[in-house]
Amino acid sequence: MTLILGLESSCDETAAALVDSERRVRAHRVAGQEAEHSPYGGVVPEIAARAHVDRLAPLVEGVLADAGVSLADVDAVAATAGPGLIGGVMVGLVTGKALAHAANKPLVAVNHLEGHALSPRLTDPDLAFPYLLLLVSGGHCQLLLVSGVGAYRRLATTIDDAAGEAFDKTAKLLGLGYPGGPAVERAARDGDPRAVPLPRPLVGSTEPHFSFAGLKSAVARAAALGDHGVADLAAAFQQAVVDCLVDRSRIALAACPQASAFVVAGGVAANGAIRAALTELAHEHGKRFVAPPLWLCTDNGAMIAWAGAERFAAGLTDDLGVAARPRWPL
Ligand code: KG4
Ligand code: ZN
Repeated sequence: MTLILGLESSCDETAAALVDSERRVRAHRVAGQEAEHSPYGGVVPEIAARAHVDRLAPLVEGVLADAGVSLADVDAVAATAGPGLIGGVMVGLVTGKALAHAANKPLVAVNHLEGHALSPRLTDPDLAFPYLLLLVSGGHCQLLLVSGVGAYRRLATTIDDAAGEAFDKTAKLLGLGYPGGPAVERAARDGDPRAVPLPRPLVGSTEPHFSFAGLKSAVARAAALGDHGVADLAAAFQQAVVDCLVDRSRIALAACPQASAFVVAGGVAANGAIRAALTELAHEHGKRFVAPPLWLCTDNGAMIAWAGAERFAAGLTDDLGVAARPRWPL
């Protein structure tokens, strides 16, 4: 049994967690930055980096105390090394290097996307490779065939905005504030998804890529006409995203008969309407559907610790010279 400390700071959540190789989350803490960024309607990178500096060390002390262990009990330190906002990534990675060096433990530099990609295996011990993954977050929208630790084949990506980005921009233009995804989901509950006709970009095309920029512009145009309420606009937007995700995933499912399951991960996977539609799609294709619990969908330290545990078990550690990478495709 090994114990891994995981650090996450690539966007607007500062997080630390202790996870062991038996899939026990010994402790996890997440500090959001809503108060700092909400006056601006989105994440301000400089403010985010400073907030990570203030919060990360106390969070690490907090999870060690919660779990009743010391740094000496940890087998490796895992930290997000990219992709993300470079100031924040540097804060987490440098902190991870310092802790690893001070305690004489190995460092595992984790790709944030790999954190999301492997997170469903933390809570579902039966999830075996290969699986088809829909990774939907604020920065990414991809379909990946996950065949093992470090073995990811990208089948599709977005040609413009990520799904979460579309939620965030739509929330902003509807005056729903930041963070946008949960706000749109809440507003959509009281709306009629058929009340506003919106496009389904790329639906019907043969490659399973995504596009959301046109959808967001269509919401902006519909909102400017003033004929529809915010709830109907939010519901129609959310339904259009659901339809795009389902249509594109259907193509990937057909192309991956070897997949043991259809899996969704990333912040947008916290959306109830999306989870319901993807569950149905998986069952249509005779696949098991796996989605992490909501707390594990949005950014957190446990997914980084778990990816660190998987990499550590595979003998994949990094030296202290490893660089932070703002862009880092899986
Ligand atoms: O994975 P994540 O926490 O950070 C990134 O790696 O980007 O994802 C954040 C994204 C944001 O765009 C946020 O609006 C979206 O996930 N999100 C949601 C929901 N909760 C978070 N989108 C739709 N519905 C939600 N309930
Ligand atoms: Zn993320």
